[in-house]
Amino acid sequence: MSNGLPQTIAILGAGNLGQAMAHGWLDRGQLPASQLILTRHRTGNLKSFAERGVTVTSDNLEATKKATILILAVKPYKVQEVIEDILPVLRENHILVSAATGISIADMRSWANNHPHIFRAMPNTAVAIGESLTCLAGDPGANGRLDEVEALYNQVGKSVRITEDLMNAATVLGACGIAFALRFIRAMQQGGIEIGFDSDSAALIANQTVRGAATILLEGQAHPEAEIDKVTTPKGCTIAGLNEMEHQGFSSSLIKGIQNSFKKIE
Ligand SMILES: NC(=O)c1ccc[n+]([C@@H]2O[C@H](COP(=O)([O-])OP(=O)(O)OC[C@H]3O[C@@H](n4cnc5c(N)ncnc54)[C@H](OP(=O)(O)O)[C@@H]3O)[C@@H](O)[C@H]2O)c1
Repeated sequence: MSNGLPQTIAILGAGNLGQAMAHGWLDRGQLPASQLILTRHRTGNLKSFAERGVTVTSDNLEATKKATILILAVKPYKVQEVIEDILPVLRENHILVSAATGISIADMRSWANNHPHIFRAMPNTAVAIGESLTCLAGDPGANGRLDEVEALYNQVGKSVRITEDLMNAATVLGACGIAFALRFIRAMQQGGIEIGFDSDSAALIANQTVRGAATILLEGQAHPEAEIDKVTTPKGCTIAGLNEMEHQGFSSSLIKGIQNSFKKIE
């Protein structure tokens, strides 16, 4: 963290993603509850955080005054309103990070009187358990404090720096990607039930198998096809299953789904 002092983080708009980030930093990161502020109108929905010592308020101005890092987690159409709301108390050294889909740094800068430290972050909901993949972008030339933002997101998973033009693609692959992966896992569970497992066993086998497959790739830096070759034997059941899935358009439908999400977001 900058100058070695602890930072106070305000998540402005603590809904689904905001609360997931809060859980991540509190439970899996190194952020004490006393250094976290959450805002939303319906603060009653944040009772469990208040009980843990997190400051919960509906006042974005108060939150901004007390915080050094501001994370915008409101819906995209609310970003301008919130920035204009906090503008009177926005200090030169505040870091402003937006998780909102599709709102550019240039737009936010224009609403924020050319504030110099504006970044975008695209985490996914696995941030809550410290397993996010977060794509980060900053304006070229104003990235000096991206290190601090990166350090924060590295507490709750892995992060990748990208150029801002890839942010929509990052949203599809990383944030929507959670849903794509979950649908794959659910289909695997359903297949497992059809071939004889009760639903709990099918779920455990599918979930842990998918975790194992991802871990092989992440830890071994392996290529998926090389690992697939290791489990296919000539005339075997794995290749029979894989080829049938491809005949039915498995990879193609996944790629088309990703392209379709991307078209929608663009
Ligand atoms: N969900 C994901 O997986 C994901 C992933 C990456 C990025 N994102 C981005 O994250 C943002 C939030 O998504 P979400 O799914 O978490 O939406 P959400 O659940 O609707 O959360 C947004 C929250 O903002 C609060 N809010 C509205 N106006 C506010 C204001 N003026 N000041 C403070 N809080 C305010 C709302 O609560 P009240 O009505 O009580 O105020 C609401 O709970 C979006 O921009 C989305 O693009 C989401």
